[in-house]
Amino acid sequence: MVGTLKSLLCGAVALAIGAHAAPSCSAGNTARTFEAENAILSGTTVDTAQSGYTGTGYVTGFDQATDKVTFTVPSTTTRLYDLTIRVAAIYGDKRTTLILNNGASSEVFFAAGTTFVDVAAGQVLLNQGSNTIDLVNNWGWYLIDSITVKPSSPRPAHQINASPVNAAANSDAKALYKYLRSIYGKKILSGQQDLSWANWIAQQTGKTPALVSVDLMDYSPSRVERGTVGTSVEEAITHANRGGIVSVLWHWNAPTGLYDTDAHKWWSGFYTDATDFNVATALADTTNANYTLLIRDIDAIAVQLKRLQTAGVPVLFRPLHEAEGKWFWWGAQGAEPCKKLWGILYDRLTNYHGINNLLWVWNSLAADWYPGDATVDILAADVYAQGNGPMSTQYNQLIDLGKDKKLIAASEVGAAPLPDQLQAYEAHWLWFAVWGDTFINNESWNSLANLKTIYGSDYVLTLDEIQGWKTAA
Ligand SMILES: *[C@@H]1O[C@H](CO)[C@@H](O)[C@H](O)[C@H]1NC(C)=O
Ligand SMILES: *[C@@H]1O[C@H](CO)[C@@H](O)[C@H](O)[C@H]1NC(C)=O
Repeated sequence: MVGTLKSLLCGAVALAIGAHAAPSCSAGNTARTFEAENAILSGTTVDTAQSGYTGTGYVTGFDQATDKVTFTVPSTTTRLYDLTIRVAAIYGDKRTTLILNNGASSEVFFAAGTTFVDVAAGQVLLNQGSNTIDLVNNWGWYLIDSITVKPSSPRPAHQINASPVNAAANSDAKALYKYLRSIYGKKILSGQQDLSWANWIAQQTGKTPALVSVDLMDYSPSRVERGTVGTSVEEAITHANRGGIVSVLWHWNAPTGLYDTDAHKWWSGFYTDATDFNVATALADTTNANYTLLIRDIDAIAVQLKRLQTAGVPVLFRPLHEAEGKWFWWGAQGAEPCKKLWGILYDRLTNYHGINNLLWVWNSLAADWYPGDATVDILAADVYAQGNGPMSTQYNQLIDLGKDKKLIAASEVGAAPLPDQLQAYEAHWLWFAVWGDTFINNESWNSLANLKTIYGSDYVLTLDEIQGWKTAA
């Protein structure tokens, strides 16, 4: 309502006095701030105890799952805006769920701090007229002062590096890199975790994902000792043989120190809370027994990656994923030991084992966790947010992290992104891969109607559409 009035008024003034009126009609081009204390509060309250707020207060009391603040934001046209949230995360690292117009949701991370700060919260595509932006509890216990929207500048051309970081990358890896670079910014590869779920999608939508992601988990020596038999290399080769692209992650079961209790079984031994294995101690000197075990495990995985190399399968390799979350042991001791382990992995696989079919996918967003440009080909985020949105917050964070020189992928998602949203937001994810059971087959994450829209879209590449990619680029 407000937006409509304003644009009518603006239009009338502009007509009456022509170009000179432009500055007074620039509501659509300048930053606009909306105070939280003037928004609609649900289960939340206005407070003033923490100094440094703007306006007459801030909103707090996010302690129940449904607690939220709803901003009403008019726009004179349908267009993209950069969104900033002014927040104080005085109780530690926090996350909020951002919901636009009761539809797509995304997560925004608030780093712990003692004062109010402006946090870039990605972009929002506002409709002409009135819009709502909800900030919903999620981790809760943060203080929201205001939000600011500013029209986004068009995304500049990407500056993607011309070749893989490994100078000895083999022809398969180089061909994959070249192909990925050729489609980046133009299309997205459809992808799915696990071959069986990829085949399930084919049954549901008539289209097979272009990319299949598999897990080396069951080749971890501490699982093999307990009887696991990995099959994911065979699955990867099956998908590659039908012309598909393969991504590999590794839920690395801790080499030793598994609790193996009823609450923390041996097979959950990649979780921080299932092991007392300490990566920092293990890496502290190269002669201790646990360092040796790490190398033993890397060598075991090298055997599997070599099978893929021999089979002519280039691999989007994503070890040490989600490290910054600290829920996996490789991230549990902070950024430094994790980066060190990444360096050891890269060196051991590349230089010692001569595995050159890999493109290296780094999977944390935070700058202080980044192992550096020299060992990373692709940046990736794992995003579990409902609503089939474009995940532009994470995309833009990764653009910043890689200075737009690295390809960017949505390596794990709960909800597959809708192509019209991806294009409107210029969120140029190279691929998305939906997690398997309880996500891909779950209507609250991916309705069949949305899957059909996604798999039927021209913007989304499916297996049939990437045939011959090795020689296409
Ligand atoms: C190796 O790790 C295990 C499991 O955490 C631990 O009990 C042991 O003390 C470690 N060994 C050394 C030499 O640090
Ligand atoms: C579907 O997803 C919802 C939301 O995450 C979850 O609560 C529910 O358990 C899931 N259903 C199934 C059958 O996995």
